[in-house]
Amino acid sequence: MVTHLLDLSIPAEDAAFGLMADFDADPHPNKVSLIAGAYREENGKPWVLPSVRMAKEQLRDENHEYLGIAGSPTFINLAKDLIFGPVVSGIQDNIGSIQTVSGTSANHIAATFLADRLRPNRVFIPSPTWINHKSIWEATGVTVAEYPYYSSSTKQVDMAGIIDTLDQAEPNDVVVLQACAHNPTGVDLTKSQWRQIADLCHERSLFIVFDSAYQGFATGDVDGDAWAVRHFTENVLALENHPGLCVAQSFSKNFGLYGERVGALHLVLPRNVSAQGARGEFMTIARREYSNPPRFGASIVQKILGERGLRVQWKHDLNTMSLRIQSTRCELRRGLEKKTQQDWSHVETQIGMFSYTGLTKEQVSRLRDEFHIYLLPSGRISVCGLNEGNLQYVIHAIGEVIKI
Ligand SMILES: Cc1ncc(COP(=O)(O)O)c(C=O)c1O
Repeated sequence: MVTHLLDLSIPAEDAAFGLMADFDADPHPNKVSLIAGAYREENGKPWVLPSVRMAKEQLRDENHEYLGIAGSPTFINLAKDLIFGPVVSGIQDNIGSIQTVSGTSANHIAATFLADRLRPNRVFIPSPTWINHKSIWEATGVTVAEYPYYSSSTKQVDMAGIIDTLDQAEPNDVVVLQACAHNPTGVDLTKSQWRQIADLCHERSLFIVFDSAYQGFATGDVDGDAWAVRHFTENVLALENHPGLCVAQSFSKNFGLYGERVGALHLVLPRNVSAQGARGEFMTIARREYSNPPRFGASIVQKILGERGLRVQWKHDLNTMSLRIQSTRCELRRGLEKKTQQDWSHVETQIGMFSYTGLTKEQVSRLRDEFHIYLLPSGRISVCGLNEGNLQYVIHAIGEVIKI
């Protein structure tokens, strides 16, 4: 019987992709999209990184055979080195890694595996966070709890709220942390705040899932952006009976390979514990869900990370992106302060692709209805969507909608 398939209601559209479709359908000549988390050049067009262009030239004769279930071993090793740096040198057995279908499937495989094997009572995700964390974890059946990450009154991390909430977590509960350039707030923890959270998670035996989607993209410095992951990893390796951690690693933003779906998942366990059984289970999940990961994007990343000249070019490309974002933030702040006589310093101090402007839902609706400027209802803008051609228009429009 298929009666349970009849009259299914249509689920609500994905907030971000639904808005993008509305934007595409809007015929207004001055429309501006500040929705997508994708880098744009000064002219508003997508940017193929020069390092990626060069690598593609060299890959012209690549074949299109299947990769293995765990992906390309060379890619996996380079990905591991990029995120962990010297912290894991010489360590083999207690790290288990596979290539994934970008950051989304790395998060999903981690969640599926942990729900099945660690069996946490709860997973704690930041509030707010990347839209998919909640749905990925809800699908596993684990109870999803939130820790308050951001205070809208101070426009800073809500450190007291994080500590109070995680203090109530039970051993084996999972905590999802964003490694850098927090989506959607653009506000990151300081090193001393990271240390405090690492100590608390260890004291309470909490399992960490790091989501690293912006390494190098955030500040141009791949090592600086991996500091938190490396600090927690040192703890796992140094402390006995640490529950361990996962890192879901995305190459979408830092290589501009959004549609190629390049990612990796790593599990780090204490020194005396092998992660190879867990890696085998990651592969079982991958096999049943997509068999093996996409080849071409990983070949590009592998080529760039594995060849000195291309790697130097890539670092240059990261600087190009992060510096353009930083200077756009600076201009946006200056323009808004001039227009509104209010403090907009948060727009400049936040990090990465997004700015949590503080605009209300009503103001966001007015921007869309009256000015054809599209952003998420939370007030999050993708700074990359701004350029010389639209910045003054956006500043003017924001100035108009915040007038009482
Ligand atoms: C925090 C965070 N995690 C993961 C992702 C996953 O991206 P992808 O699946 O393209 O790697 C994103 C993308 O925006 C993100 O912001």
